[in-house]
Amino acid sequence: MKLRKLGFEEGCVYEVIITTLNENGTLNAAPMGVSLEEKDFLIVRPYITTRTYHNLARTGEATVNITDDISLFYISIFEKEKVKELLSIRAKRVSAPILAKSKAYIECIVEGRPVICNGRAKVTLKAVNCGVLDQSFRPMCRAPNLILESIIHFTRIESLIKRGEVEKALRLLEIIAFYRDIVGRVCSGTRYEEMMNRVYDEAHHIIKEKF
Ligand SMILES: Cc1cc2nc3c(=O)[nH]c(=O)nc-3n(C[C@H](O)[C@H](O)[C@H](O)COP(=O)(O)O)c2cc1C
Repeated sequence: MKLRKLGFEEGCVYEVIITTLNENGTLNAAPMGVSLEEKDFLIVRPYITTRTYHNLARTGEATVNITDDISLFYISIFEKEKVKELLSIRAKRVSAPILAKSKAYIECIVEGRPVICNGRAKVTLKAVNCGVLDQSFRPMCRAPNLILESIIHFTRIESLIKRGEVEKALRLLEIIAFYRDIVGRVCSGTRYEEMMNRVYDEAHHIIKEKF
């Protein structure tokens, strides 16, 4: 299984939709973050109160659906009753169906026993089959969007200071610092973290220079 070929990099958390089967055989879908661990393994950390966790523990199977369609994330949180109606495709190796609107998918089997800490389980998923339904995809990660937002804020700081709008500049620096913390969590040790640190350092430098 070549999860790296699907765009997964070690150190990054990717936001996906995990499908599992409910006890009555209906489909459950929930957004979750997954990270690559070694070649064929993904780690997911569901809270033990989630249906996903219960379904994973009971069936030992899941499908990781890769999509950049934000409406799938929206539906699976805000319109949960519509999840059952989402078009799905039968998976080859597991009971959890593939969302037909996903761009790629990874069929997974739970490996070992979940480790539970502070109400959250660490579940190791072994990829047993994967496929691409639409070539135009990349797994969704929070870091690129946060870096883009931070760069936009960075480009505004200098002109705000020139206009004497120091409060606003400091507020933007705070937001960049907040995003930097998230990137540090979801993409630790990656080029994204490096970029984010640089944006923060440069923004901080501009502000420090003026005072
Ligand atoms: C992008 C995104 C990522 C999420 N990642 C996680 C996660 O890693 N673990 C978790 O327990 N909940 C996560 N959530 C929250 C769950 O999706 C949410 O609690 C959901 O209602 C669980 O559904 P379920 O009870 O059907 O499993 C995430 C939500 C979003 C929008």
